[in-house]
Amino acid sequence: MEYSTRYTLGFAAAVCLVCSVFVATSAVGLKDRQDENKLLDRKSKVLSVAGVGSGGEAPLGRDDINSLYEKHVTPKLIDLKSGAYVDAEPAAVATFDQLKAQKDPSTSIEAPKNTAGVKRLPNQAVVYLIDTNADASTDLVVLPVEGKGLWSTLYGFVALQPDLNTIAGLTFYQHGETPGLGGEVDNPRWKALWPGRKVFDDKGVAVIDVIKGVAGPVESAPHKVDGLSGATITARGVGQLVRFWAGDNGFGPYLKMLSAKGV
Ligand SMILES: Cc1cc2nc3c(=O)[nH]c(=O)nc-3n(C[C@H](O)[C@H](O)[C@H](O)COP(=O)(O)O)c2cc1C
Repeated sequence: MEYSTRYTLGFAAAVCLVCSVFVATSAVGLKDRQDENKLLDRKSKVLSVAGVGSGGEAPLGRDDINSLYEKHVTPKLIDLKSGAYVDAEPAAVATFDQLKAQKDPSTSIEAPKNTAGVKRLPNQAVVYLIDTNADASTDLVVLPVEGKGLWSTLYGFVALQPDLNTIAGLTFYQHGETPGLGGEVDNPRWKALWPGRKVFDDKGVAVIDVIKGVAGPVESAPHKVDGLSGATITARGVGQLVRFWAGDNGFGPYLKMLSAKGV
């Protein structure tokens, strides 16, 4: 049986229409679920960089993540430039989208030229106070960080000890670096090199650096971390982004405020 050209084209158009309606409906219908999952992933990464709930064998489920986060994490909104806390409803802080704020010219400013490849700075940012023992004291401060690698922008978190200098952990939740090369920033063995290293030198300048080659133990190289072999550009980018966000244009004012008032 032969079909006319008109019939074939009409049939193809009808299939396209049905498929596009299906895809559009799914995209819109699943948007809330996607947002919720993004938020959950963010929470799980904050817990993981702070080392909360990471001792178990099985990965944490949705309820575990939510209850651990509720118990140990207090997100706070800050004014990035002054470093002061901003009064805001907890629900607004919980859903504050810093990356969206950073893209919107009405809630961000152009970043000064920098080696981390950060183009814009949000007026407000979220920091996370971690109460590891659930005894109403802050044991760690987690800061969101981002910056350029080789192919992509890496987004992650750095956890600082209460001296606001010693790194407790570093993790990324999104990047597009090559698996096995730049993607090794996710390798637990590499991430394990960070805890104990210091961000600032004696003068309070952010100097932490990822070097090409082996840095050695924390005691002899407090400001240096081993590079990633075959991925020097990504590795260097990680050092640059940590320095940028710890510096005066990033969370420097907040860290100064916190260190003056005590964590
Ligand atoms: C397909 C391909 C993917 C690469 N991916 C990365 C990467 O994700 N990060 C990176 O720093 N270098 C990557 N490189 C290597 C860089 O081009 C560059 O050679 C490297 O960063 C230099 O590091 P090295 O001095 O340790 O060899 C890639 C190279 C190729 C060919």
